Amino acid sequence: MKTRDLLKLRNTGHPGINSLFAKAHSADWDFENDVDWSVPVELDDPLVAHGWAAYGRTPTFQALPEGVKTHATRRAVGRMLNILQVGESVAQNVCAKLVLLLREEDYRNHAAAQAMDEARHHLAYCRFIGAIGEEVEDIDAGTEMMFDSLLSMNDPLELIATEQFFLESFAMSIFEGLRQDATHPVLRRILELITRDESRHMGFGVLYLAEWMRRQPIDRRIAFARRWMGQILGSLLDRPGPIMLARVIRRLREVGVADAEALAPRLLREQHEINTAELAEAASGAKVPHLLKSARRAGLLDPELLEALHLSNQPLIRGALRGGAEPTATHD
Ligand SMILES: [Fe+2]
Ligand SMILES: [Fe+2]
Repeated sequence: MKTRDLLKLRNTGHPGINSLFAKAHSADWDFENDVDWSVPVELDDPLVAHGWAAYGRTPTFQALPEGVKTHATRRAVGRMLNILQVGESVAQNVCAKLVLLLREEDYRNHAAAQAMDEARHHLAYCRFIGAIGEEVEDIDAGTEMMFDSLLSMNDPLELIATEQFFLESFAMSIFEGLRQDATHPVLRRILELITRDESRHMGFGVLYLAEWMRRQPIDRRIAFARRWMGQILGSLLDRPGPIMLARVIRRLREVGVADAEALAPRLLREQHEINTAELAEAASGAKVPHLLKSARRAGLLDPELLEALHLSNQPLIRGALRGGAEPTATHD
């Protein structure tokens, strides 16, 4: 890019996207002063309700001794926070790249503000991980591959669809779940502050895609919706299964449960029942996942697209369309 390219930056004039930049300042928070880091993290504190973690709501897990449950839950929280802290750094890289790639003044401004938010989130998670004071489990290969593929992208549409639209909508449900179930006040506080920022980031992804979709011919919209609806439904249908169970069993063994493997079939069966009930709840429209809310707002659930993709009768999509009729692309 040359000075001439920056001399008269075009602003798209999109009121929603322009207001995101102002909000990034008015809703600002300070990672040192807005969180009371003096509250200690005790070694026997599970940090969240046991039910938060995968398999944590199964009767078999619930019946384990308190110390065993605490170890397993703390390990699960540590693993998640480690994924989140590196996810924040990935998001910061994506935003820095977007600042350099985008030519629209308001889009660039949002990306610059978001990069700063992500830096702050990274620091907050890392500081809390430090306070827990134990080695965290490594991130899994699937997550690492997904982040690597995102880091290798160079097309603004791909970057924004993957980071702000897909990943941040996906992560929003994780943040909300963690915030709801967090029992440690510092963890709850940082999640409350971070979730506020993340809803702006997700909003940018939705508004950007809605604008892009509006300008595309029907065949491109169908192709785009096919790719992303596949990914969205795949991740919503992906519930705790054997991979997650292997981690739980390992944690139980670490803390001295000798017959941990023997519990596996029961845990799997009980978790399967919970998974089925949760999917039924999502299909009822009582609680629409953020991914489907974002898809609807970006225009991916428009009737002609769903028909072309044969998704009009997919239970989760029907639930999302039933669950409150929010209009397209007005998310702030
Ligand atoms: Fe973030
Ligand atoms: Fe974010």
